[in-house]
Amino acid sequence: MGDARDAESGAEPDDPVVDAVFDAVAAAAPEIRAALPGRRVKSGTENASGESVMAGDLYADELLGEAIIAVDGVGSFVSEERETAVDAGGAVGSDGAYAVAIDPLDGSSNLRSNNAMGTVVGVYDAPLPATGRDLVAAGYVLYGPITTMVVADESGVREEVVEPGDDGERATRTVVEADLRLPDDPTVYGFGGRVPDWPDDFTAYAREIESELKLRYGGAMVGDVNQMLTYGGVFAYPALTDSPDGKLRLQFEANPIAYIVERAGGAASDGASDILDVEPKGLHDRVPLHVGNETLIKRLEESLDG
Ligand code: AHG
Ligand code: MN
Ligand code: MN
Repeated sequence: MGDARDAESGAEPDDPVVDAVFDAVAAAAPEIRAALPGRRVKSGTENASGESVMAGDLYADELLGEAIIAVDGVGSFVSEERETAVDAGGAVGSDGAYAVAIDPLDGSSNLRSNNAMGTVVGVYDAPLPATGRDLVAAGYVLYGPITTMVVADESGVREEVVEPGDDGERATRTVVEADLRLPDDPTVYGFGGRVPDWPDDFTAYAREIESELKLRYGGAMVGDVNQMLTYGGVFAYPALTDSPDGKLRLQFEANPIAYIVERAGGAASDGASDILDVEPKGLHDRVPLHVGNETLIKRLEESLDG
């Protein structure tokens, strides 16, 4: 499967374990996509964050879990849908094994309305919970009209198209953007949460941004971040008055997205400091997330500082 990608880009994977993780994710993506039509209903369970789990969440979690745990060099696996980490057979950090954290299906409330969804992946070289500084790579799959995968590592950010393999063959990965950079001239924004629940200082910032940029909000972080990365701008799921840590989870959502946006030339903040510096207390911690062009994130931090 790596052949199609390497032929297009000429790029060799920097880290064979990271590459094997994203091969496994890419292989699962067409299967996840194909399984969604029959899984648009609640599974009847709640996850560690107290949210209702959809049948699609469970399917994606099981398929990706099995595939990622099987990768040599992955020592630990943890998912938004699982209470605790799964030991994948290796001490993380010391002997070079990685810990992989995933949001198997991001934006799964969009299953009912048939809007975009994603899968988020963070590859850490420290036991979880860890800070975003311990990420060695991160990426996401976007199940849009086209299945794309964005992968970031030390060397930069790539966008690939993922297509199902012929006759039982594994999926193919084709690089369509070898060096994804956030455009300098921002055009879109998307902010989560109900406006009445935003703190006043965030509302003041939002009022300014609304007069400058176009609203693009689809209710799946991956879809909304992908628009922001494509056109430039700012995405946020801010602190809310009754949930000061916002909604998104540090290990599975905020850290990987912050890593990708920063590698693409942008910035990521919890409102006061870089997301990648946020010290976790638990696996399922939430954190306010603001990502986008550096100037817009700097202005956000100044607004929240006052
Ligand atoms: P998940 O489906 O993994 O729980 O994530 C949902 C998140 C994220 O995708 C999105 O940015 C946010 O929830 C949307 O929340 P609202 O529906 O409150 O806008
Ligand atoms: Mn999510
Ligand atoms: Mn999810």
